[in-house]
Amino acid sequence: MQQPLMLVTGANSGMGLATTVELARSGAKVVMLCRDARRGAEAREEAIRRSGSGDIMLMTADLGSLDSINRFTEDFRARYSRLDVLVNNAGVVTVKRETTEDGFERMIGVNHLGHFALVHGLMEPLLAAGSSRIVIVSSGAHKAGSIHFPDPHLTKGFNVVKGYAQSKLANLLFALELRKRCSDRGIRVHALHPGAVSTSLGVSRDTGFGKAVYKLLNPFFQTAEAGASTAIYLALSEEGGEEGSLYYIKSKPAEPSRKALDEEMAARLWQWSQQQTGLVWSEPPAAVLR
Ligand SMILES: NC(=O)c1ccc[n+]([C@@H]2O[C@H](COP(=O)([O-])OP(=O)(O)OC[C@H]3O[C@@H](n4cnc5c(N)ncnc54)[C@H](OP(=O)(O)O)[C@@H]3O)[C@@H](O)[C@H]2O)c1
Repeated sequence: MQQPLMLVTGANSGMGLATTVELARSGAKVVMLCRDARRGAEAREEAIRRSGSGDIMLMTADLGSLDSINRFTEDFRARYSRLDVLVNNAGVVTVKRETTEDGFERMIGVNHLGHFALVHGLMEPLLAAGSSRIVIVSSGAHKAGSIHFPDPHLTKGFNVVKGYAQSKLANLLFALELRKRCSDRGIRVHALHPGAVSTSLGVSRDTGFGKAVYKLLNPFFQTAEAGASTAIYLALSEEGGEEGSLYYIKSKPAEPSRKALDEEMAARLWQWSQQQTGLVWSEPPAAVLR
């Protein structure tokens, strides 16, 4: 059997690093997609040491930049003809309203639109694998979320809960629409909530602001390894290769919010995401126009 190729976004930290280690331990070749070359290289060394596998590659892209994502997906397609598993793990929380290079509110921009563009650019190798998987790390926070049409970039009335919950609901609606478009093309799509996990989510990479909150909550939070277990399960288990449930918690099917199952909203978000990114997915489903 051919060695499977797997890609993890946000692989240098928290659950992304823990997921990389386990996927590599399973015998897969793993590409770590990180935005910062130095943090990525240090994490790759750690992943090699912890997994005992040398089959771990580092590639860089900023999911807050459509140009960067485009450069990365071109490079990936030039190097690899197929992709067996894509784990959309990277995520960001900002306390104040910030924008990406493309002017998107950062949480909807990175957590949803960046991954929307990434999947678009990786559709060819995902289809080429014949049978592949997309694992989307959402959050139970989606339950507090709405998609704030006509202003998903929250130019008015921004707050962190509104922005983060919207982006995590968008993860689930993206998964719902992708399943519709891809399941008859051999791509399995699942989303998950990892639980409350002690990582660097919401901690400023520049100032370290936010670390103290995790220190305080540490005894109540799971480790990154425990938090990554559902993503790893969906990437590697037999169930992850089947249609299964849309949403998982603790490696078991779970009920997302009613809004996350709203097919009209999923289609509307898809149209909006195409318009924002300028990327068109052709009909019939999953055939990609460039
Ligand atoms: N921790 C929790 O309790 C919890 C609960 C529910 C869901 N989640 C979800 O779990 C996922 C993983 O988060 P985590 O808790 O492991 O947090 P983390 O330790 O902060 O890891 C987040 C990762 O995303 C990367 N990232 C952020 N912005 C990026 C960008 N513009 N381009 C590329 N990569 C970017 C980070 O890279 P840098 O290090 O370079 O910034 C980092 O590798 C997220 O989707 C989060 O929403 C977490």
